[in-house]
Amino acid sequence: MPENSFLPSITLRSMTGAARDLDSALQLSRAAGWAYRLEDWRVARAVGQGILAEADGQVIASAICWPYGESLATCGSIIVAPAMQGRGLGRALMARLLELTGDRAVLLNATAEGMGLYQSFGFEAVGTVHQHTAQTSARHTEGAADPQVRSARADDLQVVLQMDRRAFGADRNQMIEEIVLIGAVAVIERAGRPQAYAICRPFGLGQVIGPVVAAGIEDAKALIRHFLRVNAGQILRIDIPGDSGLGPWLTGQGLPEVGGVTTMIRGQRPATSGPDRIFALASQSFG
Ligand SMILES: CC(C)(COP(=O)(O)OP(=O)(O)OC[C@H]1O[C@@H](n2cnc3c(N)ncnc32)[C@H](O)[C@@H]1OP(=O)(O)O)[C@@H](O)C(=O)NCCC(=O)NCCS
Repeated sequence: MPENSFLPSITLRSMTGAARDLDSALQLSRAAGWAYRLEDWRVARAVGQGILAEADGQVIASAICWPYGESLATCGSIIVAPAMQGRGLGRALMARLLELTGDRAVLLNATAEGMGLYQSFGFEAVGTVHQHTAQTSARHTEGAADPQVRSARADDLQVVLQMDRRAFGADRNQMIEEIVLIGAVAVIERAGRPQAYAICRPFGLGQVIGPVVAAGIEDAKALIRHFLRVNAGQILRIDIPGDSGLGPWLTGQGLPEVGGVTTMIRGQRPATSGPDRIFALASQSFG
């Protein structure tokens, strides 16, 4: 392919779920200083389409896209081994990802290192995402549990998926159904129907809270408080959009901001509908 013709010994191929591919991807994320576990790579690949670059039988770069229906996809896990950076490999991976996403609008959360690359493919900055992470304290177990928050039941899933679709603007059912298998789902029910939901699952160094979808910030806080309580003493992470309004409150809860990325889009993001909003991402990759 023309993008990497000046790197003749490098081939791009699909990433499979085989242990060898997942292990290689894990080595890449470790070298980039990312706290992914093998299980995080397994889930990310299982619900998306991954690409690996190989040279002399060694995996030297990765990238994954997650198509959500026909109108939107996200991209992430774009990593080039440090010794191979600056030779056009990131550009070749991105070109291949955009072949896979086709006519869809593409959303991604860019590190400072990646921004120039994405801009050159027509991505524009549209927002920010702030990572809040900490080892939480036992104080979150003090006081009574919030009676309006309960664990989701199997028969809540369809309502949760509908809520997510309205808030995100695209169908993330396959991804949500996968993370529900490894995480806990909480809902706020009013008038006999879930009105807000959140998922908390193992990820990276501990647990991640997200997505959090609600019509109002107080419901979002109640769901987050629930998982702070259930997981008190563990390392917790939450990635919030810059306009969520949750940043100072999370810091007050003992979860300070530890880093951020820039949300970029290429194309027109499908419209959201109804009052529900995304207060926390499923992950920086999944959106
Ligand atoms: C971002 C990354 C994937 C780019 O891969 P790469 O193979 O080095 O990129 P390329 O050689 O294809 O360069 C692509 C463009 O990005 C720019 N670029 C590459 N590395 C850069 C850096 N560290 N800082 C700023 N710009 C950079 C180059 O100028 C290049 O533009 P050009 O083709 O017009 O000269 C790579 O630096 C990386 O793996 N970083 C660590 C993980 C990471 O942050 N991934 C992005 C997640 S969103």
